[in-house]
Amino acid sequence: MKLGSRQLVSGPLATIALSMLIVALAHGQATPAKQLMSEQAFKNVTVLKGIPVDEFMNTMGFISAATNYNCADCHVEPKLEGDWSAYAQETPRKATARRMILMVQDINKSNFAGARVVTCYTCHRNLQGAPKITPSLAEQYGEPPTPDPNEVEVRRQAPDAPSADQVFDKYLQAVGGSQKAAAITSIVFKGEYQGYAEPKAPVDIYAKAPNQRTMIVHTDVGDRTTTCDGSNGWMAAPAMDKPFPVIAYTGGDLDAVRLDAVLSFPAGIKQAITKPLVGSSSIDDKDVVVVQGIANGGRSSIKLYFDKQSGLLMRQVRFADTIIGRVPTQVDYSDYRDVAGAGVKLPFHVITTWTDGRSEVQLTSAETNVAIDAAKFRQPAPRSK
Ligand code: HEC
Ligand code: HEC
Repeated sequence: MKLGSRQLVSGPLATIALSMLIVALAHGQATPAKQLMSEQAFKNVTVLKGIPVDEFMNTMGFISAATNYNCADCHVEPKLEGDWSAYAQETPRKATARRMILMVQDINKSNFAGARVVTCYTCHRNLQGAPKITPSLAEQYGEPPTPDPNEVEVRRQAPDAPSADQVFDKYLQAVGGSQKAAAITSIVFKGEYQGYAEPKAPVDIYAKAPNQRTMIVHTDVGDRTTTCDGSNGWMAAPAMDKPFPVIAYTGGDLDAVRLDAVLSFPAGIKQAITKPLVGSSSIDDKDVVVVQGIANGGRSSIKLYFDKQSGLLMRQVRFADTIIGRVPTQVDYSDYRDVAGAGVKLPFHVITTWTDGRSEVQLTSAETNVAIDAAKFRQPAPRSK
């Protein structure tokens, strides 16, 4: 999809701010944020009912990514930033999309026992408008497109592949050795965060082994805080000048914040993934070892990519389930630097890409084994501007 600008109220900020507002709408009610369902939060939802609001937002990201339409291509563009009621209005394209959701559910029900085998992407392939009908000779005889490493499926352990433990041990060796890695109990990072179509902002990241993490982005309209306390996850952010609500993550989003917390520590690599299978692929002509499995403590499918040569973790891809299909999120790690005093290398450049946004974090400092107040990992308080 083409990412919209902040003025168009699309892209990551819109999604985040929107999720916030949604919870704000329900703030006065007794419903716990975790259970907040789409039909409770929204005004005009008729088919995507019975799912938590964060999963609902993931379906919007899925639809955008599959059809290459922006939020504002299907919805009425809000006149004022922060006027979210515009999204409830009907448009012809929104009506078509709703009909398509029902059609796809029907195809899967009558042909595939309800499994999500056919999705919007099956036909639309990120091309705007009607899907292609006639095979293209240019495509058939032209250069085949480079395979997307995120699409590699490791269905069984490749016979010549190392075991997952060998891959993890090589990674731990590459960052400085498993003993030094295990000696890190906490990390405080500082750096700069660049969100899509947003100005750069200072960022602080606090991590406590084995599974707690809080990232605070100091945006020009207030702090955006993502927290994982080890089992639960939340995001609190400024929704323009409205009182700032909190969203509690569920499903794939919860698996995601937990993964980011565990993977903050190289020693966490063995906890990150269960039922691992090892295969291979390449990223930008670099040979990589792929470890595919299930996010530990969750149900999401994940893939970890290690540089075959250096052994370092290059990429994490996770797939959050929604009722219309899986949405991918990709995290790329680079710029591994020695952390003074720790004898361990950590990635200082982290790019996260998801269906409706992208963020780039360039860290400038990392301090290990400092005391971090336990309150940093509790549910963040709603903030105002
Ligand atoms: C291809 C068209 C399409 C695109 C693109 C799209 N949506 Fe939607 N959106 C829909 C449909 C259809 C519904 C109604 C779903 C239903 O009735 O269950 C909807 C409903 C919504 C609602 C509920 C509004 C209410 O109060 O009823 C929100 C919020 C929303 N979309 C946000 C977004 C955001 C944010 C994006 C961009 C990331 C987006 N949508 C992209 C088609 C689209
Ligand atoms: C089996 C193939 C197929 C699947 C799956 C499918 N579509 Fe479509 N879609 C079509 C066709 C064909 C058209 C063109 C229909 C026409 O021109 O009348 C279309 C048209 C559309 C349009 C209108 C395009 C425009 O520019 O006006 C939207 C929006 C759309 N689909 C959204 C979706 C969404 C969202 C999903 C997933 C829930 C989906 N489609 C799944 C085949 C499919």
